[in-house]
Amino acid sequence: MERVAKISDVPNFGKKVITVAGRELLLVNIKGEIYAVENECPHQGSPMSAAVVKDGYISCPRHGYRFSLTDGRCAEHPDFTLVTFPVQLDGEDILVDCVK
Ligand code: FES
Repeated sequence: MERVAKISDVPNFGKKVITVAGRELLLVNIKGEIYAVENECPHQGSPMSAAVVKDGYISCPRHGYRFSLTDGRCAEHPDFTLVTFPVQLDGEDILVDCVK
C-alpha cells in the first residue's frame, strides 16, 4: 500500500488524477468513501477523469460504458473491465495498492 493523497485533496463527489509509479489513477470520493480506478477506459482508452459518477458507477465520457467503482465490471459490456485498486484510509491519508 502506498500513500498517494489526503482525503481533503479529493472533493466530495469529485475526482482527482494522480500518478503512481508512472501509472495514472483516478481517485473518487463519495461521501468520504474513496475509490481508485485506472484513468483509462478499457474500451478505447479514454481518460476517465471526465467521467460521470453516479450510484456507485463511473460512466466513460466517450461511449458511456458504465463500470462499477468497486470491481470495475461493466454489466452491459462484460468483456470490458475497468482496473480498480484496493484503497485503505489511515486518518487523513489515502493508501492505494497499485500493484496490478
Ligand atoms: S472509450 Fe470508454 S466507453 Fe468507449
